[in-house]
Amino acid sequence: MSKIKFMFESSNIPLEMHKVRIVQKLNLLAVEDRLDAIDKAGNNTFLLRNNDVFLDMLTDSGVNAMSDHQLAAMMRADDSYAGSATFERLEKAVQKMFHKEFYLPAHQGRACENIIAQTFVKKGDITPMNYHFTTTKAHIVANGGTVVELIKDEGVIVESVLPFKGDMDIEKLESLFKQGTKIAFNRIEVGTNLIGGQPVSLKNMKEVAAVCKKYGVINLLDASLLADNLYFIKIREEEYKDATIEEITKEISDCFDIIYFSGRKLGCARGGGIITSNKEFYDRMKNLVPLYEGFITYGGMSVREMEAMTIGLEETMDIDMISQGPQFIEYMVNELQKHDVPVVTPSGGLGCHLNAMEFVKHIPQDQFPSASLASALYLISGIRGMERGTLSEEKNEDGSEHFANMELLRLALPRRVFTLSQVKYAIDRIKWLYDNRELIGGLRLYEEPEVMRFFLGKLEPVSAWQDKLVAKFKEDFGESL
Ligand code: F0G
Repeated sequence: MSKIKFMFESSNIPLEMHKVRIVQKLNLLAVEDRLDAIDKAGNNTFLLRNNDVFLDMLTDSGVNAMSDHQLAAMMRADDSYAGSATFERLEKAVQKMFHKEFYLPAHQGRACENIIAQTFVKKGDITPMNYHFTTTKAHIVANGGTVVELIKDEGVIVESVLPFKGDMDIEKLESLFKQGTKIAFNRIEVGTNLIGGQPVSLKNMKEVAAVCKKYGVINLLDASLLADNLYFIKIREEEYKDATIEEITKEISDCFDIIYFSGRKLGCARGGGIITSNKEFYDRMKNLVPLYEGFITYGGMSVREMEAMTIGLEETMDIDMISQGPQFIEYMVNELQKHDVPVVTPSGGLGCHLNAMEFVKHIPQDQFPSASLASALYLISGIRGMERGTLSEEKNEDGSEHFANMELLRLALPRRVFTLSQVKYAIDRIKWLYDNRELIGGLRLYEEPEVMRFFLGKLEPVSAWQDKLVAKFKEDFGESL
């Protein structure tokens, strides 16, 4: 955590506590080529070619920078189908971090969700959670369950000063349990993704755990974004300001019966897994690992990634490592706010989230404001963000649109990847786009997959707004890319 004071800088600047030793050359296309690229991608940033992207802020998933120790560890991977020493090292690291007995490997977060949902969700079951994540909900629904979101009302207010907007509403949880409906499990997602990477307090986790215990409900943690959340507990929750990251992690872990994570986020590698101390739960889930993932000692992961994840999990206990993302995001949010750009506040983890509902308030929700903003930002900057709004929602059963509570454009800052000048470039272009926001128009779908359409769906502009935006860009930026 950089408590390093600058003498001649007026604003607080986050200082990197690492140096860059491997680089990848970037490509910034001319604006006409960017128009061509986004058109070919059906205005869906998931469908852009990476070579056409300048700053890839789509996600932090599987694209965090790895440390020298992680890369070195990859070289000692013990490549065997069964019983590899690599697995034993990873298992040990997971057990040490979470103080739990059993670890089931899986190739990524949604693979864990598949195993958990198949094991615990039966037709008609309800699964309360602070907030859903796309893949989580899809697996629960696929197994006949329903998701009920019990986030506190303030959690979905875009601009706020509440330090833990991911907290669950305890009264709503208890009143749901009192109704006696069949509950598969309760799920808490730390670093609540879809509302802007907003953290959950340890106090809230303890309260949730107590209610689950009282009613005999399994309490489950999605720890994919745990790293950011650990940092926020340390700096925003007075009671834990002197606790070590290890101690905070243990207290969190003690609140839950089952923990799962995407190792593409937590541990800065590519993989995942499920952790529990309950032998019965472990046995019930265990048999699905060889069926869907691979043998029980690799779970679909490459042994090299497993070695990298082992070290990545250990490095998550380092405050310098886990503070970098949130501090860069805070800088970006603060600078955008100075220019009145609407953003999710307080700043969270994962990325900076633009509030498309305000940014392009002239675009109706059935014309996908967040996707329109994502397309416009790529066009004028080469920056790839991710739509997190109505396009990311599944439609209602009657085929009508299910409008999202929040229309966000997420600009992820994968850990230790971007420099401050790259973040400043992003801020510069977003400010310009905000000043020219009236030129941004809506989109309509012309190819729409039935499930998770945000991944592969294609859209077209409802008018010639993109040509006008390009013309204004050229007028203002001249020869600049
Ligand atoms: N849970 C959360 C909170 C996530 O953010 C993700 C992935 C998953 C589960 C699924 O994990 O991708 O390894 O299968 N989030 C990515 C993102 C896709 O870009 O936010 P996965």
